[in-house]
Amino acid sequence: MNFLELVKTRQSVRKYSSQAIEPEKIEQCIEAARLAPSACNSQPWKFIILNDEDIKNKVARETYNMVVQFNKFVVEAPLIVVLMMEKPKVISQIGGRIKNKDFYLMDVGIASEHFCLQATELGLGTCILGWFNEKKIAEILKIPKNKRIGLIITVGYPHDDIIRTKIRKSTQEVLKINSYD
Ligand SMILES: Cc1cc2nc3c(=O)[nH]c(=O)nc-3n(C[C@H](O)[C@H](O)[C@H](O)COP(=O)(O)O)c2cc1C
Repeated sequence: MNFLELVKTRQSVRKYSSQAIEPEKIEQCIEAARLAPSACNSQPWKFIILNDEDIKNKVARETYNMVVQFNKFVVEAPLIVVLMMEKPKVISQIGGRIKNKDFYLMDVGIASEHFCLQATELGLGTCILGWFNEKKIAEILKIPKNKRIGLIITVGYPHDDIIRTKIRKSTQEVLKINSYD
C-alpha cells in the first residue's frame, strides 16, 4: 500500500470483530507514535494501553452518558489506548506562549495519527476519541491530578472490510495558492 492508499484506507472504525490483536502489532503502533515529530522535539506524550478487560470496560463506560451516546461503541472495542499530554520542554512552552499556540496539542494529534496510520497498515481499525469524562477516567487509571488526557484511541480488527468514501471539503475549498484571497 503506498502512502496515499494508506491515508484513504484509514477511517474511523466503530465496529470490531472479536479477533484478538497481536501484542507486537500494538508495539509497532506505539513505535510509530513515539517517532512522531513534535515542537522542539518535546515529545509531550505517554501512552497507556488498556488490555485488562475490567479496566478497559470501566474506561469505555466513561466515554458516553445518558445524553451523549455516540461513543457507546467503545464498550465493544477490544483495546483502548489513552494518550496523555505530558509537560512539554520549557522551550516549547515559551514558544507556545509567545506565539499564542498550544504546540503540545498539535504534537499529541500528530502522534495519534501516526498510531492510527500504522494500525491501518497492519490491518487494524482505530477510532480517535476526543469526547470522554476525563476526570472519571483519570481516577480509574490513577492519573496524577496535574496531568491531562489528550485523546483516546480504540483499536481492533474491523468488523467488515468496507472502506467508506471520505466526506471531505473539496481541494478547491481548502487550497489557496500564494494568497488567502
Ligand atoms: C480530535 C478528534 C476527536 C474525535 N472524537 C471522536 C469521538 O469522540 N467519537 C467518535 O466516534 N469519533 C471521533 N473522532 C473521529 C472523527 O469523527 C472522524 O475522524 C471524522 O468524522 C472523519 O472520519 P474518518 O475518520 O472515518 O475519516 C474524532 C477525531 C479526532 C481527530
